[in-house]
Amino acid sequence: MWAFCSLLALAAIPATLAVKAHDFKTCSQAGFCRRGRALSARATENPAWRSPYSIDASSLALSPDQASFTAAVKSSIYPEVNFGLDIRIHDDGVVRVRMDEVGGLRKRYDEAASWALLEEPKVSHSIQWTVAKDKVHAKYGAKNNFEVVVAYEPLKVTLSRNGQEQVVLNGRGLLHMEHYRTKESVAQSKQGIAVPEEGFDTDDSQVVLEQAHPRAAWFEGETEDGWWEETFNSFTDPKPRGPESLSLDIDFPNHGHVYGIPQHATRLSLPTTTGEGAYYSDPYRLYNADVFEYLADSTMSLYGSIPFMQAHSADSTVGIFNVIGSETWIDVGRPTLKATTTHWISETGILDVFILPGPTPADVFAQYTRLTGTPALPAHWALGYHQCRWNYISSEDVRSVQQRFDEEDIPVDVFWLDIEYAEDHKYFMWDHKLFPDPVDMIKDVEAIERKMVVIVDPHLKRTNDYPVYKEATELDVLVKVKDGKTDYEGWCWSGSSAWVDFFNPKSWDWWKGLFKINGPSYGWHWTESTENTHIWNDMNEPSIFNGPEISMPRENIHYGGWEHRDLHNINGMLFHNLTSQAVMERSNPPKRPFVLTRSFYAGSQRFGAMWTGDNLGTWEHMGVGVKMVLANNIAGFSFAGSDVGGFFGNPEPEMLVRWYGVGAFAPFFRAHAHIDTKRREPYLLDEPYKSIVRDILRLRYSMLPVWYTAFREASVTGLPVLRPHYVAMPHDEGGFAIDDQYFIGSSGLLVKPVTHKSVTEETVYLPEDQVYYDYFSHQAYRGAAKGKNVTVPAELHQIPLLIRGGSIVPTRERPRRSSPLMKRDPFTLRVALDKDGNARGELYLDDGETYSHREGNFIWREFAAQKLTKKSKGVRISSRNLAAQKPAEAVDHVALAKYDDGNDFAKSIAGVRVEKLVVLGLPAKPTSVSAGDKELQWTYTPGISASEKKEGTASVLVIKDPKLSISGDWDIVVQV
Ligand code: GLC
Repeated sequence: MWAFCSLLALAAIPATLAVKAHDFKTCSQAGFCRRGRALSARATENPAWRSPYSIDASSLALSPDQASFTAAVKSSIYPEVNFGLDIRIHDDGVVRVRMDEVGGLRKRYDEAASWALLEEPKVSHSIQWTVAKDKVHAKYGAKNNFEVVVAYEPLKVTLSRNGQEQVVLNGRGLLHMEHYRTKESVAQSKQGIAVPEEGFDTDDSQVVLEQAHPRAAWFEGETEDGWWEETFNSFTDPKPRGPESLSLDIDFPNHGHVYGIPQHATRLSLPTTTGEGAYYSDPYRLYNADVFEYLADSTMSLYGSIPFMQAHSADSTVGIFNVIGSETWIDVGRPTLKATTTHWISETGILDVFILPGPTPADVFAQYTRLTGTPALPAHWALGYHQCRWNYISSEDVRSVQQRFDEEDIPVDVFWLDIEYAEDHKYFMWDHKLFPDPVDMIKDVEAIERKMVVIVDPHLKRTNDYPVYKEATELDVLVKVKDGKTDYEGWCWSGSSAWVDFFNPKSWDWWKGLFKINGPSYGWHWTESTENTHIWNDMNEPSIFNGPEISMPRENIHYGGWEHRDLHNINGMLFHNLTSQAVMERSNPPKRPFVLTRSFYAGSQRFGAMWTGDNLGTWEHMGVGVKMVLANNIAGFSFAGSDVGGFFGNPEPEMLVRWYGVGAFAPFFRAHAHIDTKRREPYLLDEPYKSIVRDILRLRYSMLPVWYTAFREASVTGLPVLRPHYVAMPHDEGGFAIDDQYFIGSSGLLVKPVTHKSVTEETVYLPEDQVYYDYFSHQAYRGAAKGKNVTVPAELHQIPLLIRGGSIVPTRERPRRSSPLMKRDPFTLRVALDKDGNARGELYLDDGETYSHREGNFIWREFAAQKLTKKSKGVRISSRNLAAQKPAEAVDHVALAKYDDGNDFAKSIAGVRVEKLVVLGLPAKPTSVSAGDKELQWTYTPGISASEKKEGTASVLVIKDPKLSISGDWDIVVQV
């Protein structure tokens, strides 16, 4: 965003770009964060510190089947305040810990989970709690090796595996739920009571109970710091409900790395924020915000928040999902190299924490996505290249950009329109002076099945000639100011604006109706659109130029009377969710919607793609963008990318080329640029840059089968599309901090995009004693058991891309102008033999746009290369129907149950063939290559064999046009 500026004023981008840090709070500028950190400081300084929270054993109530329990919790400093605890274990071993104030002055916000979760998780009926004198505990797991212990006094929850602590809640005694109080009651309780000395020890606890409130000083601090009102910059937050923050320490005593809690521009393995030598001084902040020219290395908040963290060690991965919708700060400490402490401080809400027991990364992904959903399987075209800029300014502009792509034979699937298409920034309303014929224009784009994406932002221009605003007012679905009655007014692109309250169910059908092309709907609907027009949701943090921290006042009121502060981080997801439903429902039968969002929360992966917002055209931003996209991938949200080229600035050709190399290996691949940047569509580049970018784009298109197969796996198992080293090789400690190279799905492709200037070669880390082949040159590299760095060429026209020995990679190598034109193109299979001479790969395909795959219309193939006999040098390369095998793991049960070999999709591509196989690393020249009784044509170039420990160009066998179907079973026998 660029607050208040007219477009003219945008012209000059300062040479030195810097975030306006003063627009955003640091922890010390947020009362509750200060209080949380002060609590932690008092605890650290006082060796006798002990949590005042405990379970009242007499209140413990087990459910009849002993599968869950509730208990009353007391804090010794406020004995008259009641808290309720509720702990359950799900079938997959996930432990849910909930605590709320009971009978307080009002209800705390408890709806975050209802927006994030797919459905209310089922409690296990086979796991049982056992009650002891000082604790309640449960053992479970296939080997009965997991144990959850809930200690009564002080309250502490520990998850252990094989007797080793994995996750500890309140082990350091930082749990604190600030109960609701009134100013008057606080004043009364203070009168005439001397504040005792700070600190206490266990012997003191009786005294604590007797003297109750004054004792709060050692725990809560001596001042009412930011309790009732707070001013930041010129904004005063009236805080009508007083203090209500929530603090909790969550420690991982045996894990040296933590990952997740996007979105921050930082490394994947999160650097420390507390303790000696902390890398950052401020905690990681989660408060969705439109941060102008954000820093490339910082804990500052960005556009989205996923309060999900993973802790990892060589033998264990666990996760924490802290379902909270309000502003949250997270301190990370590392007392030893093998242990991590975290401290979560939230402004409001109940305590609702899921402990994900792992023990592998794959288990944690399955557990997390069982809760919040797997990423939706995108339309196939959405994995192609997207061309955007702010702005293509007219129908003619769009047509001529498309024409230039075609003239230069550069593939592209989607053209985008930013806010200037809309008259006065009234979204949906075409500016007919510039776009006189929107539907014709879109149809021109759709001629070769390309698509158009058009922006729809959440701010509604407050003018009665805007039907969308008018209807929202009539329906009374706009966000209110603190009186709960008056519509809130703020400032955004459209000037004076209002915001739909998507928490209000009344807004849902109306919003979806707006997108209907032919109606029926509540009133106005978007006739000047097509079924293939997809949507971009931006500014949904929400970004409000004249609001506190460029967002909405926290005291604003949403449906149900909740304050904006309670649900701020969830807000953007609802807009995305409803828009995604709206686009899906435009066509009958429904098609997979594409909706890009800037703001997101846990669960957003169900609704579309995200991007990393307004990055800068700098090498630092290019580099950190890769890490941010990885962080989103491991937090459940795989469909992620950053603006190729950098949003701000004019990248020199070298940088632009490298940025295409980054984008081509991101799940979401879009070029975008600020309105004041020079045009930089790839066809405008001089040679050799133009040809290099064309080649990179063609490479992306050739690999669409790999991306689509990876997305299908993600949509079923929750495993991310991009897999950093700790995910792909969980036992290899050397890879735990690596975040500039990664694997794509299960394909075996390992890429290290170049993100530095003047690079001619790169170091790539190989995590195991295995052969890896350069994708392009077929150079064989050999890793080592404890990891090894190898140097690979990385001139401007080169991308370090390796195939792990043991993989079979399906590609389509005919250059086309858009991906739908590839539907019937033949396949190439790259068979990269491992050191034992074997390999395996998968391919998933369906119609790429409808939901008929859920009815069993797809193919799912397994390719394997196996030695003919243990001792032989020859291999059998086979294609088998994986869908028909219905493997127990990693399957979509619904779709597979309906699968049959003769399904319509499989029939439709029966004639699509494998046109080439490239076998890397054979030990010697074949004597024959045959399929059935047919001898095939082939060529062989001698070279390094997969089993050799040497490096050099691998041997290459090319099998030409074997005339085999991609969807049929077959065997090729290579005799050596
Ligand atoms: C925001 C978006 C950017 C977009 C601009 C105008 O800054 O992040 O991508 O181009 O608004 O809509």
